[in-house]
Amino acid sequence: MKDFINLKDISSKDLRKIINDAKKRKSARKKLDKLEIDKDAPLKGKLLIQMFEKSSLRTRLSFFLAIRQLGGNVLTLRPDELHLSNGGESIEDTAKILSNFGNIFMLRTNSDKKLEEFKKFLSIPIINGLSPSSHPTQILSDIFTVEEIKKKQISKLQITWIGDSNNVLNSLIAASIKFSFKLNIGCPKNYLPNQKIMSYIKNNKNKIVIYNDPKKAVSGSDVIFSDKVISLNDKVNKNKKLRDFKNFKITNNLMKLCPKAIFLHCLPRGTEVDETVFGSKQSKVWQQAVNRVHVQKSILLYCLGRLR
Ligand code: CP
Ligand code: NVA
Repeated sequence: MKDFINLKDISSKDLRKIINDAKKRKSARKKLDKLEIDKDAPLKGKLLIQMFEKSSLRTRLSFFLAIRQLGGNVLTLRPDELHLSNGGESIEDTAKILSNFGNIFMLRTNSDKKLEEFKKFLSIPIINGLSPSSHPTQILSDIFTVEEIKKKQISKLQITWIGDSNNVLNSLIAASIKFSFKLNIGCPKNYLPNQKIMSYIKNNKNKIVIYNDPKKAVSGSDVIFSDKVISLNDKVNKNKKLRDFKNFKITNNLMKLCPKAIFLHCLPRGTEVDETVFGSKQSKVWQQAVNRVHVQKSILLYCLGRLR
């Protein structure tokens, strides 16, 4: 039994195994419809319990399909319907009940501490479905998408992030260390990754370069990532932040500086990317979203000790 909370705490070998398994599983079910179960039904009889403390479309749908395609089932809890949310029950007792009723728990939360608290009291694996500090299932799936489209291991590619230093970028940084790929970050001076992340970068000596000029950041890139300037947990002056990022928009002119690059965005999007880029040939955002299902399946198998 293994948890999936942060990429930095999972070995490179296991992360690679998850990607390889997802590749095999995706290609083996090409002719199957969405709810048809994989031939080996490896999670038959298993229940995934998932809970979202903040909005979600893709993560909710992809975990639903993932467990169903593996032969198991899913229950989605609404936090406002649990005693936990109004202080009527502790995390400890909630976790014990979840462990007795379900086989694995996926949580999207407003609090990194809550993930750790649940982990302490659960006797089933926990998956982080996005927290203020990371979005590991998204980034692992994005690595799958990059390798699927570029037909190369990501370690051979130049990856670039243009945008806020947020949870998704933190996971991309961890991935660049685990998968040894070069990462450029383009963000305004006052929006660098926090101290903890900066020392994580320093201690790992990976090739991560931070630019305050988006044009320099994208030059020679194979993949451009972006995300909303304002994240779900952002308690900032939104208008000011949007103004601060106005030179970091993904425009056609910017994409022309990296003609071989694909454009990826975890979605939902804001104003950080022009419609023309979003709808262009370089943009692979829909393929990226669908791949969440395939990688989530292999993450579930990893957590439950069933990876082939
Ligand atoms: N990309 C992503 O996690 O989307 P949702 O917030 O809709 O789940
Ligand atoms: N950075 C975004 C990702 C949404 C999937 C957020 O946390 O809101």
